[in-house]
Amino acid sequence: MAWEETKQELQAALQRVGEKKIALAVLPELASTGYLIPSKDALKRVAEPADGTGTYLKWIQEQCAVHSMDIITGFAESHGETFYNSSALVGPEGVLGVYRKLHLFSEEQDLFTPGNHGVPVIERHGVRLAMLICYDWAFPEAWRLAAVKGADVILHCSNLVLPYAQRAVIGHALCNRVSILTANRVGEEKDLTFTGQSQAVDAFGNLLIQGPTASTWESVFEIDPMQSRDKSVTARNDLFADRRRSL
Ligand code: ACM
Repeated sequence: MAWEETKQELQAALQRVGEKKIALAVLPELASTGYLIPSKDALKRVAEPADGTGTYLKWIQEQCAVHSMDIITGFAESHGETFYNSSALVGPEGVLGVYRKLHLFSEEQDLFTPGNHGVPVIERHGVRLAMLICYDWAFPEAWRLAAVKGADVILHCSNLVLPYAQRAVIGHALCNRVSILTANRVGEEKDLTFTGQSQAVDAFGNLLIQGPTASTWESVFEIDPMQSRDKSVTARNDLFADRRRSL
């Protein structure tokens, strides 16, 4: 889809949720470019730096200002001649944090370089946020790292295609006592069908809300980010203190 068309769809969705006075909106992976970028040359044309000076992140910042909210979105990041499949936390004042996808899926490996900044945790209005992207769902160590670094909520921008990923994410929430929001895509690109079912899971693994598989959807809901701060599971067990780190 051309950027102008994508922009109109995003603007309408952000308007609908922005009217509800929310703190944070989460968009899918590579939300401005589409998933299947056909070549390195095409990627060069659509990628932009993480500092917020490019077309897409600047526009996202404007949307944050209009609606007095923050937005987390996937985007194609350029850093000189290196490209990352990234997500950014953006507020009215600009880009507040960036995550570079650690685990690249299929043809992404021909275009992007795997992330080199680990899993940053960013404090925003007293809540500690971490970001992971799509295929990271398959790597428990990424979720653990975010949680041991103190994340209260993990925002998971996605273009999921495998049908069991959403279920795996519920396990990551349970094992790390951390809330997770997955913003996933619907529809098709070439031979890929995206699985939708965007979801919010609380820190006890309860599925608070889940979208449809095949139609666009946005929803507004509340989570309690402080649920994640207490890792005890019984009077004598704590999910983090009980880890056997010497194995
Ligand atoms: C994926 O990582 N976009 C499947």
